[in-house]
Amino acid sequence: MINGVVSKAFIFLEGPPPGTDILLNSLVVKHAQKNQPPSPPDTENVLYGVNIITNSDLSDGLNGWFPLGPCNLSVAYGSPHVLPPMARDSLGTHEPLNGNYILVTNRTQSWMGPAQTITDKLKLNVTYQVSAWVRVSSAANGSQNLNVALGVDSQWVNGGQVEAKDERWYEIGGAFRIEEQPKRVIVYVQGASPGVDVMLAGLQIFPVDRKARFRHLKHQTDKVRKRDVTIKISGSGTESLLGTFVKVRQIKNSFPFGSCIMRTNMDNEDFVDFFTKNFNWGVFGNELKWYWTEAQRGNLNYTDADELVDLCKKNGMEVRGHCIFWEVDGTVQSWIKSLNKNDLMSAVQNRLNSLLSRYKGKFKHYDVNNEMLHGSFYQDRLGKDIRASMFKTAHQLDPDATLFVNDYHVEDGTDPRAAPEKYIEHIIGLQEQGAPVGGIGIQGHIDYPVGPIVCSALDKLGVLGLPIWFTELDVGAENEFVRAEDLEVMLREAYAHPAVEGIMLWGFWELYVRNNGHLVNAEGDLNEAGNRYLALKREWMSHCNGYVDENCELKFRGFHGDYTIEVVSLTKKFSRTFTVERGDAPLVVNINL
Ligand SMILES: *[C@@H]1O[C@H](CO)[C@@H](O)[C@H](O)[C@H]1NC(C)=O
Ligand SMILES: *[C@@H]1O[C@H](CO)[C@@H](O)[C@H](O)[C@H]1NC(C)=O
Ligand SMILES: *[C@@H]1O[C@H](CO)[C@@H](O)[C@H](O)[C@H]1NC(C)=O
Ligand SMILES: *[C@@H]1O[C@H](CO)[C@@H](O)[C@H](O)[C@H]1NC(C)=O
Ligand SMILES: *[C@@H]1O[C@H](CO)[C@@H](O)[C@H](O)[C@H]1NC(C)=O
Repeated sequence: MINGVVSKAFIFLEGPPPGTDILLNSLVVKHAQKNQPPSPPDTENVLYGVNIITNSDLSDGLNGWFPLGPCNLSVAYGSPHVLPPMARDSLGTHEPLNGNYILVTNRTQSWMGPAQTITDKLKLNVTYQVSAWVRVSSAANGSQNLNVALGVDSQWVNGGQVEAKDERWYEIGGAFRIEEQPKRVIVYVQGASPGVDVMLAGLQIFPVDRKARFRHLKHQTDKVRKRDVTIKISGSGTESLLGTFVKVRQIKNSFPFGSCIMRTNMDNEDFVDFFTKNFNWGVFGNELKWYWTEAQRGNLNYTDADELVDLCKKNGMEVRGHCIFWEVDGTVQSWIKSLNKNDLMSAVQNRLNSLLSRYKGKFKHYDVNNEMLHGSFYQDRLGKDIRASMFKTAHQLDPDATLFVNDYHVEDGTDPRAAPEKYIEHIIGLQEQGAPVGGIGIQGHIDYPVGPIVCSALDKLGVLGLPIWFTELDVGAENEFVRAEDLEVMLREAYAHPAVEGIMLWGFWELYVRNNGHLVNAEGDLNEAGNRYLALKREWMSHCNGYVDENCELKFRGFHGDYTIEVVSLTKKFSRTFTVERGDAPLVVNINL
């Protein structure tokens, strides 16, 4: 596949040692056949919200359940009667739970626990939400990871995971989807150390009604992203103003919708065209990372980053600086790894000085030290203070930049290391050390998005009062109809949430986005996910036409952003632009003809 502009392309045969003749009979190069686009999944007989677990409430003893491995199951009483919150948000009003739970004893392996076979109950390409209360016995030493797992033939699928520390009930909220017909699927609860008893109550697995949630989100979006506007026409002789026609069109939604771009993408005009037309923020794939700008010690090269900055600025786009440091060991270039403590400390200082003084005022955001919940390269070598110190120095060098933490699996319930509670603790820890944390980055590489799970994470993080951004959003369903819906779930949840102040996609063009995540294929054609993105962008623009009322006013509620207005009275024609900014009080736009 050729992606981008080439001045010359040629094909050649080679291989045999010199002196060997090559005989070529025929060589055919033709346009590759495209896969038939998939059809939308059949959702006709899907019973949304209906639990597929047999005897979930244990009112029929252990019927339907079996122990995975030689452990013992029994029924006991005393678990919560309330539904786990994330399930409640999906299911609405629901019967209370009856307090029965499964007690698992005599576990000798961490994978042992209660299980059910659910093969025949699953539909392909349908998203299932997983919900349960879990708890570990007092014998547990330290924290235990508990996980609802799906055994899909020989594959393990994570249906939600939580870290249980204390002797109390914990909510597990997760999701999964199966795209190819499996022979056998079992669901089981596992993860605690051998010898630890496990308790499971109210396990539910049910298909999620995404459309119903969208209706709720539209309502919410209306509250959060729109403002009342009164167009007030005045002029000499009010009488002649009756019958004035007003036409209002939104030309720009001011909410940040961005995407990742890489230097090579700049050579593809179609890519650049889509990027600049459909996004107002940019972030670079790798070009700002330390391993890119200083692959060899002392050889600084900012050419690629400079060119990308120029492209964005030329098109009136803002840019995020991603990232100054990256805390995960495997991402650190070898010359840095070989430094002793003192040299590493000065290398860190040099990196900050060099990058932030060069680009002062250019990057509105910086991801200061990427993925601190998943790595500790700098902290291990330079001590706990180094993280806060990176923030402090960055702030001194470019006080106008907002400094972000940035991490993954925060919003999907699969990773106890990055659970919202952990992220909050981490951010407060940084703040206590004086780090000027200005924003929370949720990367958003997600596989099976379920609205209430994502929203729950946003609600929890929202208590910090910092702006939340989705910084690297991508979804990855093979079926592009499913992918479109996954994307819609994420965009609607984010846009409807009052704490979210920006959404960046981690690319959109095939081959420059994760597998099965593209909105535009390599030849430039939009797929279902691309169509959905553009449809949402259109939905989030307001237009209004009409005659003024007896007070010479026209009222509407519109999305934040820039508008044009055209006023046609009996005698005059007038046009101008105005901006609807965020605000509670109605915006009055006075037009004096
Ligand atoms: C506990 O499990 C073991 C192994 O499966 C089994 O031999 C034993 O009978 C069980 N005990 C009870 C009380 O169920
Ligand atoms: C199984 O677990 C129960 C309860 O924890 C305990 O009393 C019993 O001794 C265990 N049995 C075996 C064979 O380990
Ligand atoms: C429990 O954890 C503590 C501290 O982590 C350790 O010292 C102790 O040996 C552990 N006990 C058992 C039974 O594993
Ligand atoms: C810097 O990077 C650019 C783009 O990758 C490359 O073309 C150029 O040769 C590099 N400059 C130096 C001095 O290595
Ligand atoms: C599910 O999606 C896959 C991937 O696109 C497709 O091959 C399959 O036909 C779909 N099956 C159903 C039942 O929707």
